[in-house]
Amino acid sequence: MDRKTEQDVDFEGFSFDAFDEARRPAPQTTGFDQVVDSALSRRGLLGLLVYGSGAAAMGLGTGVTGLLSSVSAEAAASRFAFTAIPIATDATVHVPEGYTWQVLARWGDPLFSDAVAFDHATGGDAATSDRVFGENTDGMELFTIGGRQVIAVNHEYVNPKLNLPNNDGGTPASAEDVRKLQNLQGVTVMEVAEGEDGWRIVVDSPLNRRIDHNTPMRLSGPAAGHDLLKTEADPTGTASLGTFNNCGSGRTPWGTYLTCEENFNGYFGSTDEAVALPEHFKRYGIGAKSVYSYEKFDPRFDVSKNPNEPHRAGYVVEIDPSDPTSVPVKRTALGRFKHENAATVLTRDGRVVVYMGDDERGEFLYKFVSAGIYTPGGDTSTLLDEGTLFVARFADDGSGEWVALTPETTGMSAAEIAVFTRVAASKVGATTMDRPEWVAVNPVAAEAYCALTNNTRRGVKPNAGGDDTPVGGPNPRAENQYGQIVRWYPAGDDHAATGFTWDLFVMAGNPTVHQDAYAGSPNIHDGNMFNAPDGMMFDTTGLLWIQTDGDDDNAGDFAGHGNNQMLAGDPATGRIERFLTGPHGSEVTGLTWSADRRTMFVGIQHPASPFPDGEGTLGRSSIVAVKRADNAPVG
Ligand code: FEO
Ligand code: CA
Ligand code: CA
Repeated sequence: MDRKTEQDVDFEGFSFDAFDEARRPAPQTTGFDQVVDSALSRRGLLGLLVYGSGAAAMGLGTGVTGLLSSVSAEAAASRFAFTAIPIATDATVHVPEGYTWQVLARWGDPLFSDAVAFDHATGGDAATSDRVFGENTDGMELFTIGGRQVIAVNHEYVNPKLNLPNNDGGTPASAEDVRKLQNLQGVTVMEVAEGEDGWRIVVDSPLNRRIDHNTPMRLSGPAAGHDLLKTEADPTGTASLGTFNNCGSGRTPWGTYLTCEENFNGYFGSTDEAVALPEHFKRYGIGAKSVYSYEKFDPRFDVSKNPNEPHRAGYVVEIDPSDPTSVPVKRTALGRFKHENAATVLTRDGRVVVYMGDDERGEFLYKFVSAGIYTPGGDTSTLLDEGTLFVARFADDGSGEWVALTPETTGMSAAEIAVFTRVAASKVGATTMDRPEWVAVNPVAAEAYCALTNNTRRGVKPNAGGDDTPVGGPNPRAENQYGQIVRWYPAGDDHAATGFTWDLFVMAGNPTVHQDAYAGSPNIHDGNMFNAPDGMMFDTTGLLWIQTDGDDDNAGDFAGHGNNQMLAGDPATGRIERFLTGPHGSEVTGLTWSADRRTMFVGIQHPASPFPDGEGTLGRSSIVAVKRADNAPVG
């Protein structure tokens, strides 16, 4: 998806991931030949490895001709309560026969009755833009609070050409324009209800809330109060404003929402283009040129005036959806990087584990393990402040280890580890990954999965820290345009363990175009092809739902892949079936279920087509509600 230039700020039909990747390519700082030599020697030695469910490694060669563990066709089929659907290339949503879908919420839909209804001519009312459902829906979680069903959902970014359609190029021309863009991002908390006409937002619910780029936040954990986090407006280094580029989601066992700040770097720029920026900005892609020009009207985003402000973004933020007056908390103990999502699970002794991917080419996979034990009803206020952050190191033999990031292992202070986490992870030799997107933890087996969406620089260029990106391990294809899903099994079936074994659940590909490793693993065939796995979520039955954010041109390497989609995968068999297709130019991202599990809510982000309002309208990111026609549970 490297089709964007630095000058082009038109996101229509593109995810922010693809935009950021094209805009800030990793520097070529180490020897190209050295990297390729290393890649080729490892590839020649090992071939591609795909392992069966925790079994011994099967060296399959570059054709990946083996299969995951085998079961009967009937047993495999019984896990799927739907008939797989074909690809689509049109401008709407498709689900299997026997299922229905409807729109729950669209960008611009009022959350409060004093908000002005959406107007396609203006891209929505500016004055009440903090009272409506925001733009670019992403990760979401549903909570049941006092008998009410409440969805907390991210709004990752804005497309200014849609939000400010009457501005030249969508460029903000005033502080008011900037404020409108800031208001449409962040998080929505909204009550939803199902009536005779289906699902709707409960307008004016006392639990409805918008959290945006100006909402007061508290910084907690090892970096809170450190000089790196102090600004002129906040000399304490503990109180920031806003949450940025909210991508994937998570939920804690105590009922709070976790929103993950991903490509935060793009919000910061400099009004003084000649300003000397700190060297460490490079690792995070922070430069003098911002995406939205906030800095021209809002000095907080001007790094020539506020060089510490970017240190206050790039975190996992905890939000209490049951209290609209609560102050969201930025949990610095979970590290600062381009956070995708936050998948939680408890250790055998009740500590909290949070798995997290850093979505950038050649960056890393992390987990946080709390020091304290979670007890229902107990004090949870510091569980995500005190603990150990680990980073994954994968070995080519199917084993791996979580390496603790501590002052002893990194030579950095706890605060520095929390702020410059990527640097700390590089110091311990973490494995450079093919862009870790969502992590999902299986609720019925001791295993977790991470979508490695793609990495067209694998084996070609180092990451932004200069770490080599050799072909091998869970990243077995050079110039990997398709992506794969890696799975790991913690030692002793305990997510507290520092040891694990791993395999690849699937390698996406195209067996109709390629006969080599780029065909994908054996569980990929012409009836379930996809590229760029991204969103992932398990249902209660242990079925893995996979959402894509890839190339939907349906041509060349991607012929037969169609629009972005959602598939279901069976961890036991490796079988994968297509369940839903999105409108052309959209990404399918975000998944949660109603309290009775009879509805699944699916996010449709940045449709390039006039979805869902039809011809002549702006494409509006939307949440759709999917049900079975017989109202049986859907996960
Ligand atoms: Fe916002 Fe990496 O997806
Ligand atoms: Ca994503
Ligand atoms: Ca993505």
